[in-house]
Amino acid sequence: MSAQNARSVTQNSPEEQIDCLSSFTNTMQPQRYLITGGSQGIGAAMVERARNAGHHVVFTGRNADRIQRLAAATGAHGIAADVANGDDNARTVATCVERMGGIDVLVNNAGYAYRAEIGALDLAAMRAMFDVNVFGLVDITNRVVPMMKEQGSADIINIASTSGMKGGAGGTSYGASKWAVRGISQSWQSELRPHGIRVVCICPSEVQTEFGGRTGRNNPNKLYADDIAATIFAALEMPRRVLWPELAVFANNPWKED
Ligand SMILES: NC(=O)c1ccc[n+]([C@@H]2O[C@H](COP(=O)([O-])OP(=O)(O)OC[C@H]3O[C@@H](n4cnc5c(N)ncnc54)[C@H](OP(=O)(O)O)[C@@H]3O)[C@@H](O)[C@H]2O)c1
Repeated sequence: MSAQNARSVTQNSPEEQIDCLSSFTNTMQPQRYLITGGSQGIGAAMVERARNAGHHVVFTGRNADRIQRLAAATGAHGIAADVANGDDNARTVATCVERMGGIDVLVNNAGYAYRAEIGALDLAAMRAMFDVNVFGLVDITNRVVPMMKEQGSADIINIASTSGMKGGAGGTSYGASKWAVRGISQSWQSELRPHGIRVVCICPSEVQTEFGGRTGRNNPNKLYADDIAATIFAALEMPRRVLWPELAVFANNPWKED
């Protein structure tokens, strides 16, 4: 670490302070976002935040009505595309290139949970979920990274889960897919840091969305989709020299009684 980096901004000369602070503003410039699974929940909160900050956004989903409503409300471009389908991913990336000229921020968010205990697992259901949560995430990123390497600067946000940090009953399938996303993220960090590409893995705890139906997660003291979007923006808005490799996000006091 250089002596300059080791000192705080206030210890630097006025010129150094301006230099240092200006690196915080890099994401204030309009960036080009691709957000998978952006039609509702955490992805939709990201679409809204990115649009409110003036960024260009393409997002995917499967439900045409939801896609259309969010696109109309935010001005983002929505595409019906299944991340488990290679042709759909090719079309999604081509649309980003056509409309925005590239991708600065890829948010790999599309995912769902199939849960069952060992002894009663449906392997076909587990494989179908891996096609979305793991192979879909890898396939679309595989198509985007060559472009990002050419740019020499970009960000990839992978949405894993706290279910991928600690095993639990019924977690063979979903938990394993999110452990995989964490391992994949670490591998990409090793490969992509030398290219100026940051890979940030986000592990949310329970968030109040439609994920898995409206269950006990939908409690006002648990996390909101926008809490995750805000966390992602905090990581993105750090100076480009700063990488937060993995962030777990929990509700502080979900047991509170109102
Ligand atoms: N909610 C939680 O408690 C929680 C906790 C930890 C991690 N996560 C993770 O966070 C991510 C988002 O979850 P969420 O809570 O926002 O869930 P959600 O409300 O169910 O939203 C999921 C989004 O992903 C899209 N999607 C699902 N499968 C897709 C596919 N094959 N191709 C393209 N889009 C697809 C859905 O699109 P359509 O609705 O249009 O089909 C929807 O926009 C997931 O990866 C999930 O595993 C969630």
